[in-house]
Parts: sequence; C-alpha cells; structure tokens
Amino acid sequence: MNIAILGFGTVGTGVYKIIEKAKRQTQNLHVKHILIRKNKKPDLPEMTDDIDEILNDKDLDVVVEVLGGIEPAHQYILAALKHKKHVITANKAVIARYMDEFTKIAADNGVKFYFESSVGGGIPWIQGLERALRVDDVNKIQGIFNGTSNFILDQMKKTGKSFNDVLLQAQQLGYAEADPSADIDGLDVANKLCISVDIAYDIFVKPTDELPIFGIRNITGDDIAYFNQKGLTVKLMGKSHQRGNEFDYVVEPTLYHGDTLEANTTDNYNLISLHGETIGNLKFMGQGAGQLPTANAVIQDILDIFQHKEHLKREFMSNLKYRSDLTRSNYI
Ligand code: HSE
Repeated sequence: MNIAILGFGTVGTGVYKIIEKAKRQTQNLHVKHILIRKNKKPDLPEMTDDIDEILNDKDLDVVVEVLGGIEPAHQYILAALKHKKHVITANKAVIARYMDEFTKIAADNGVKFYFESSVGGGIPWIQGLERALRVDDVNKIQGIFNGTSNFILDQMKKTGKSFNDVLLQAQQLGYAEADPSADIDGLDVANKLCISVDIAYDIFVKPTDELPIFGIRNITGDDIAYFNQKGLTVKLMGKSHQRGNEFDYVVEPTLYHGDTLEANTTDNYNLISLHGETIGNLKFMGQGAGQLPTANAVIQDILDIFQHKEHLKREFMSNLKYRSDLTRSNYI
C-alpha cells in the first residue's frame, strides 16, 4: 500500500511514526509522499509541497488527509477521490460539512472514504456504531466527544487551576485544535455529533443548520467548586434522539452525579454511547484526543482498506426533520 499523508502536524506525524514502526513487522505499508506547506523546508525525502505530484502518482493507493480545516482539505479530498485514490481523514470539520458529497464521489469512483479517527480519537466508535446498525435502529447517541474540554474541566476540578492555564496545557499536549475555540465553544462536539447522527439516522445534517450549541467558556473555577460541593461534575455533552421521522440535537454542558461513568471520564478521555433496540445501551470509552490514539484509528482505516474490510454503505436520505420546536428542557 502506497500512502500519501497530507499535513504533517500532530496527527500526520503520529501516522508516520506508527507506520515506520509497523514496517519493522510488515513491508505492506509505505509512506511515499508527505504534503507540507509551501515555503516550508522539507526535512524528509518523502516531503513535497506539490499536491499534483501526489495526485498524479499512478502507484499511490491511499491519501490520508490530516490538514484540518475546511479548505484546501475539501478540494484535496475531492481531487484525490476523482483520481481514484482511497481517502482517509481525521478532519471532522470538513466531513461534517461535506459527508454527502465525499460519499457520493467515492462511490462514483469505486474508492473508499473512511474516517474512523474523526470521532472519539482512538475509540472504534464509527465501527461500533456501524456494527450496531447492521442489526438495530439506533435511536439515541450521547457523549463526551471532546478531549480538550474534558481535560480542561477535569483539571480545573482536580487542581483548581484557571481555565486559561489548563487550556495552555491541553494545547501543549496536542489535544486542542489549532484554533481551540472549536473545542471550547462546542463546535468540535457539533461536528462529531453531526457525523455520528448522519450515520445512525441515515440523514445529512450540518453543524451550520441552526443546531443549539453551547460551550464551556463561561464555566468558572467557582462554578466547579460549587458543583463539587454538591457531588456533581460538569461535562460538555453532545446528545441526540430520534423519534419517528424527527430528531433532536444539542451540545451543552451537563451535570452528572459523582458515581456515573460520565463523571468518572477524566483527562483527555471521551465516553460515547448509543442506544439500539436489541443491543440496549452501549458505551465506548478511550482517549478522544492526542497524537497516537488518533493516528492509531487512521492506521486501522488503512488496514481495513488493505484487508478489503467494508464499512457500512451510506446513502443519505433527508426525510427526517430537525425538531426545532423542542426546548432544551424538553430534551433532557
Ligand atoms: N481537539 C479534539 C479534541 C481533537 O480535543 O477532542 C480530537 O478530535
């Protein structure tokens, strides 16, 4: 398998490291190109700043897009699919916006578009959701989808440090986005919830579709100390239910009693759950942010392509309606 990595930041470097390590066990995975920014000095022989050199390589099998952001990621993914390269991406922002387009173009060109690492970091969440959907209708998704905000809330509680100090720590640990406002203001959770909801309910909903999104920016150390006194822990949650042909959706901070799994999901961990008719409640927990857990999920997608392991075929319908009349308290 010849692989190109677009972007050599936290996740791209992690993918390279794991493949280099894997190569000692198998010769099957080979990083042939790494796309770096224009004017950046290449320090590995695989590095180039020329996307066309990558796209026109007839021997290239897979493009791993880990640039982040919307453009040029969107254009590069489309171009790679049209050049009949399989595409794997960890970029939740671009998937949440263009999942329908990517899925269609991939199918038209007979290639795969896989994105396990985009939700829940190293947790096999998309795979778990797809397995549940082979048997069940999934009518509820709920989770701590953002490692950075979970780390911030947890550290504020444990150490009494200020919001800004722990945010800096999360950035240094490679959990936060380049622009951490997406983590703090709930948009990263919204992107991940949209991706999950698209798959679960077979619809296509974008985070820009007037969804109610609340973040953690205004939660103070005093708030956390007060919740603590009451035996409560605050978590930034993404939640969605489906009922008949309607669904509701919200991203908001929520209080949990100390003995719940949610309250005990600490550090950079995510906890994502689904409810299916026969499977009941399933909860998935693991490191939701960080270089190696996220890169691990990218490699799992590469191996799925290599081993011809099909992910669920998605044909998005739009017959479900977003229930904008629901108030937040109705929801809970
Ligand atoms: N910034 C994201 C998070 C990275 O903190 O969860 C993983 O998607």
